[in-house]
Amino acid sequence: MILHDRIADILPSWRDRVNRLVKENGDFKVCDVTVSQIYQGIRGVQIQVTDISYVDPYEGIRLRGYTIPELLEKLPRLPGCQFPLAGGLYFLLMTDSLPTFEEAMEVENEWKKYAAIPDHVIKMMHAMPRNTHPMTLFSQAIMACQVDSVFTRRYMEGLPKSDYWIPTLDDSIQLTAKLPALAAMIYNWKYRNGSVIEPNPNLDWSGNFAWMIENPNSHEYEELCRLFFLLHSDHEGGNVSAHTAHLVNSALSDIYLTSAAAMNGLAGPLHGLANQECLRWLLKVYNNFESFPSEEEVIDFARAELNSGRVIPGYGHAVLRTTDPRFTAQYEFAKKYLPDDELFRLVSRIYDVLPGVLKENAKIKNPYPNVDAINGTLQYHYGVREFDFYTVLFGVSRVLGISAHAVWARALNKPIERPKSLTTAMLEERVSGKPDTIEVEM
Ligand SMILES: CC(C)(COP(=O)(O)OP(=O)(O)OC[C@H]1O[C@@H](n2cnc3c(N)ncnc32)[C@H](O)[C@@H]1OP(=O)(O)O)[C@@H](O)C(=O)NCCC(=O)NCCS
Repeated sequence: MILHDRIADILPSWRDRVNRLVKENGDFKVCDVTVSQIYQGIRGVQIQVTDISYVDPYEGIRLRGYTIPELLEKLPRLPGCQFPLAGGLYFLLMTDSLPTFEEAMEVENEWKKYAAIPDHVIKMMHAMPRNTHPMTLFSQAIMACQVDSVFTRRYMEGLPKSDYWIPTLDDSIQLTAKLPALAAMIYNWKYRNGSVIEPNPNLDWSGNFAWMIENPNSHEYEELCRLFFLLHSDHEGGNVSAHTAHLVNSALSDIYLTSAAAMNGLAGPLHGLANQECLRWLLKVYNNFESFPSEEEVIDFARAELNSGRVIPGYGHAVLRTTDPRFTAQYEFAKKYLPDDELFRLVSRIYDVLPGVLKENAKIKNPYPNVDAINGTLQYHYGVREFDFYTVLFGVSRVLGISAHAVWARALNKPIERPKSLTTAMLEERVSGKPDTIEVEM
């Protein structure tokens, strides 16, 4: 397939580049680590390299060097569509070059070959209790597909290390192909009549999700899916799901094991689950007032929330120091397709006044909205109102990025990760100036 050829073409120069960097500068110190950083989630410690994406505090995410507005402009799209094909995005993430329309379609067509869900996956879901969280079902469904892992089979056959990336890419194509169908299967079983709808061969990967949940606003919701699945595909290597994926894959666990582990991290309330909290909060504001709230009323409400020690979901970010461009892209979508939606109008009103309120508290480093401040509003508008499903949509998109990280980690032969732990007593000794008794293996 074209992706294999492209990666094979550029891989020798990437391997040379990395080998030279390590050989000539192996002792160069990148950063120091403080006691606070060790105890505070290793924030800001520069211990990873990835060329797939980078979060700039003021520009937001760049995927393979391109900002969100650049991607929306440059990636190929279907005739009559405003938003790009996910196949083109996947091509870019994997090969570091912008695809032509034909190249994007080649990925889309390859995905179509593997989109069907194996029967045992459907049976497994049916055996679960009805109240199982959709993220649990999603992770289980990915795991259940692992039986077909090409990497695991070929590894057992003695595949040479230099070729690990090839079946990793095969697995990635075959797993990502199924993700919209897996998500739709879960959605229909949890919230609709339980039907498993075949993908529509005339639709692209993103648009097919709208089809498979039989969304009545099909054209607009297909467009939203294209936008949503692009925006959430990657956010550097240090967030919980990406970091988990990298670690698990470093043990040569295949893409299925890797992605399911990442989804388990994404399912946490401090990570992917945050988007459902945002919509809950928005509805709380909305329902608090008998008529549409004025700016003053929103300001008073927000101040009262903050004064009672609550966070305002959808605002702030660990890295960003500006409005998240993923928020802006969805905001523009809403202005075009749902300008009169009451919840969107509320998102807009809050956006006008909340940064000013948050700036009153100097310790809040970023008073601007992140992507979650609007995600749920758009889904809600198009009838996807089951909050606990939103993280599955996030996951469908995020596995695209995770896969690209894993393929390149195998291509560059990144070793198993094994950071060193210390005891509290050792740290106390070090800070008191006693001689270091720990030998760090290299
Ligand atoms: C995203 C988030 C977890 C980043 O946390 P962070 O990196 O620690 O952010 P900061 O350094 O700006 O935090 C400094 C302080 O401001 C507070 N703060 C940050 N954003 C806030 C918000 N939206 N509302 C109220 N307080 C906030 C933090 O809780 C922290 O308080 P503390 O010192 O008492 O613990 C944080 O902004 C937050 O909780 N936002 C709301 C939840 C959310 O939108 N999550 C989705 C993220 S994509």
